[in-house]
Amino acid sequence: MQHSRPSPSPRGRLLLLLALQLLCALSVAYQTLSDDFLRNLTLAESDFDIHNQEGLLAPILIPRVPGTPGQAKTQQHFVNFFRKELPDWTLLWQNSTGTTPVTGNRQIPFSNLIVRKEPPWTKPGQANYLTLVAHYDSKFKPDNFIGAIDSAVPCAILMHIARFVDKYMKQMHEEMVALGELGGTVPMDMGLQILLLDGEEAFGPAWTSTDSLYGSRSLAEEWEHTMNPAMSSYRDPLGQISIFVLLDLLGSANPRIPSYFLPTHWAYMNMASVEERMRKLGLLETKPQKPFLYEASKVPSQFSKSFVGDDHEPFMKRGVPILHLIPSAFPLCGIQWMTMASI
Ligand SMILES: *[C@@H]1O[C@H](CO)[C@@H](O)[C@H](O)[C@H]1NC(C)=O
Ligand SMILES: *[C@@H]1O[C@H](CO)[C@@H](O)[C@H](O)[C@H]1NC(C)=O
Repeated sequence: MQHSRPSPSPRGRLLLLLALQLLCALSVAYQTLSDDFLRNLTLAESDFDIHNQEGLLAPILIPRVPGTPGQAKTQQHFVNFFRKELPDWTLLWQNSTGTTPVTGNRQIPFSNLIVRKEPPWTKPGQANYLTLVAHYDSKFKPDNFIGAIDSAVPCAILMHIARFVDKYMKQMHEEMVALGELGGTVPMDMGLQILLLDGEEAFGPAWTSTDSLYGSRSLAEEWEHTMNPAMSSYRDPLGQISIFVLLDLLGSANPRIPSYFLPTHWAYMNMASVEERMRKLGLLETKPQKPFLYEASKVPSQFSKSFVGDDHEPFMKRGVPILHLIPSAFPLCGIQWMTMASI
């Protein structure tokens, strides 16, 4: 791990965060958003201030190893935020336990938090969900590992997105109800679902298929066996995921995020075009040589079978479309993973 890279300026960091939250939020849109709309987008810097305990990020910049007090504190931060800021969203826990190669016979608890909002007219099993995902656990070793970009920042971005899009979802739903348009099509029945996953990290020194992805493996398996009511639009909650957008290792300067999967390249291209428009409008402060989403013009023959192992795997295996937003070259600066110095 290298410690030599200078930290990006605070504004640069915020702009990155802003860009990412927007890029995600906007992949929701079925309509092209106006320049005015893009100009109106704002981000409260205090939410991502690493010293502001009232913000979204600072309270979870602590070790968050499953089965430790940091895990419980992080969970409490999420619950407090959603209950206070988004009281009409549904909060669900999906819990499991498991042993790991380094913790003996002790059953370690893994708790995934599922937060959702769907159109008011949808019946159970009817809504499809744009699904935004990050993991909140941190590594077992080294001691006191904080994992700022891995993945506290992505979790804070997802909270920010939920609060940001809430008012637009509400407005859209009210307008549709007023017009008597009560869904029945995929675009109309679209909701938003955020998965804050636990137990992504391996406990032992080597990442293996059984020592990693504890939370996501449990959730994907449970959802595969959870049948929706008869006559639902989708057989099970996996089918309700329109696209699984996984954020990981984000928060350092100038990420270079490839397009990994051809089936979701359309969404990647939409996001890349929003990034390009925002740069042209001067709304992003960072001026990297290449855009963050630099593979918009990738052609089908350039897609390979290789991918980065992460929480999407148990879902991808079960046929869920995946958009993986993770830099191709992992940020080298160990300092960003291990301390708060450089988020
Ligand atoms: C942008 O914000 C202004 C001021 O709040 C508002 O009047 C306008 O409708 C907004 N434009 C869009 C496209 O949201
Ligand atoms: C699942 O875990 C969460 C977080 O630890 C806890 O609040 C909740 O009560 C648990 N649910 C069940 C059914 O055990």
